[in-house]
Amino acid sequence: MGEDAVDRAERVLEEGIERDLGSSMTYADYLDLDTLLSAQHPRSDPPQHDELLFIVQHQVSELWLLLLLHELRSARRLLAADELAPALKRLARVKHVQRQLTEMWDVLATLTPSEYARIRPFLATSSGFQSHQYRAVEFLLGNKNADMLRVFAHDDAARADLETLLHEPSLYDEFLRHLARSGYPVPAEVLERDVTRPYRLVPALVDVVAAVYADPAAHWGVYETCEELVDVEDQFQQWRFRHLQVVTRTIGHRAGTGGSSGVDFLRRALDLTFFPELYEVRARVG
Ligand code: HEM
Repeated sequence: MGEDAVDRAERVLEEGIERDLGSSMTYADYLDLDTLLSAQHPRSDPPQHDELLFIVQHQVSELWLLLLLHELRSARRLLAADELAPALKRLARVKHVQRQLTEMWDVLATLTPSEYARIRPFLATSSGFQSHQYRAVEFLLGNKNADMLRVFAHDDAARADLETLLHEPSLYDEFLRHLARSGYPVPAEVLERDVTRPYRLVPALVDVVAAVYADPAAHWGVYETCEELVDVEDQFQQWRFRHLQVVTRTIGHRAGTGGSSGVDFLRRALDLTFFPELYEVRARVG
């Protein structure tokens, strides 16, 4: 074998590669891997092989939700500062994260009903319904629900965070305020609405959006933002639907560990909408 030939069995470590890492920052230090990789505590007794999948899937979801909140909060701030282009950049990332969350369901769908049944007793009353980050994403997007705070009465930090979000304008509220500042005739009832309530359709606002969709070239930035927001809602619904499908194939019509009726309760979430005018306008286009 010539000197330049590639050895396909072994890669030689280059001289420059750090080997003496005793006193410098390592991959594990930077990422706090000791904490991250020691946070999986299966509870089944006797131990069930599939419980690790169940735990990891939830933990990875929570990490993606953490990033989603970071990006959505930033997008909302940028809209409040009338910086549309950077806000759109944030939403582009949001959509990719949502896609990861949705595609992840294929991994959990490998859990059979019998495998889940062996783990379920050890979950006791815990349920994804109690995910404070999921609820924070819903609040940020505009699906406010003060009743949800009661689920977090035991957790001061989570409840305080949700309480703050409940009283702040949502991403959509900030977009509509940006429209008003840009000269669009956004009705006063939209701008002065009680932001602690879930956002509800305002027919006069559909007229405003219809004008944008009637002439996209003249309103490109706003038009593009509307479509980005629809993408975000679309992805959110895809996540809900895949969750519903996985729950259906795993527990059928049994009640949830969180105490709800299960699939019937989850199916009703598919009727929720964050940006009603952006959907309503579609019947008017053309
Ligand atoms: C086999 C796996 C799963 C089953 C059987 C299941 C079942 C359920 C059920 C029955 C509910 C309704 C509330 C209740 O009564 O507990 C629920 C809610 C929820 N679950 Fe899951 N789940 C599973 C996996 C996951 C995963 C991996 C996540 C990721 C974080 C998740 C997040 C949620 C969220 C956010 C809700 C609240 C949804 C809403 O309010 O509409 N679930 N789940």
